[in-house]
Amino acid sequence: MEVRVCREDELVAGVVRTAHLGHDEQGRPITALLLRDEQGAAVAYRNMCRHLPVPLDGGTGRFLSEDRAHLVCGTHGATYRLRDGYCIEGPCAGRMLHRLRVSLRGADLYVSPEPAS
Ligand code: FES
Repeated sequence: MEVRVCREDELVAGVVRTAHLGHDEQGRPITALLLRDEQGAAVAYRNMCRHLPVPLDGGTGRFLSEDRAHLVCGTHGATYRLRDGYCIEGPCAGRMLHRLRVSLRGADLYVSPEPAS
């Protein structure tokens, strides 16, 4: 399953777009977070913390740190790099968000639940 998220030129730095990709084997929703990394590349991660299997935003819609330089988990503060989803600080330091595949087709960006290659 692949879902169109937005036009490529609509994905601006400092903004996180979301897309629903169905459910996993445990029945938990799979939500993709699509954003620009530090270099401007489009990257996507599953919206699930690596400390506990809860959404980073806890339903608030806030995914980024104040300076928008990292993804953060609102539950216990895990802080993840944008470029690779690596947790640099918090209870799951050293683990990585699940990266999802991003495709550009024409002018549109798509995400899929398959891991990025
Ligand atoms: S659930 Fe995300 S840091 Fe604890």
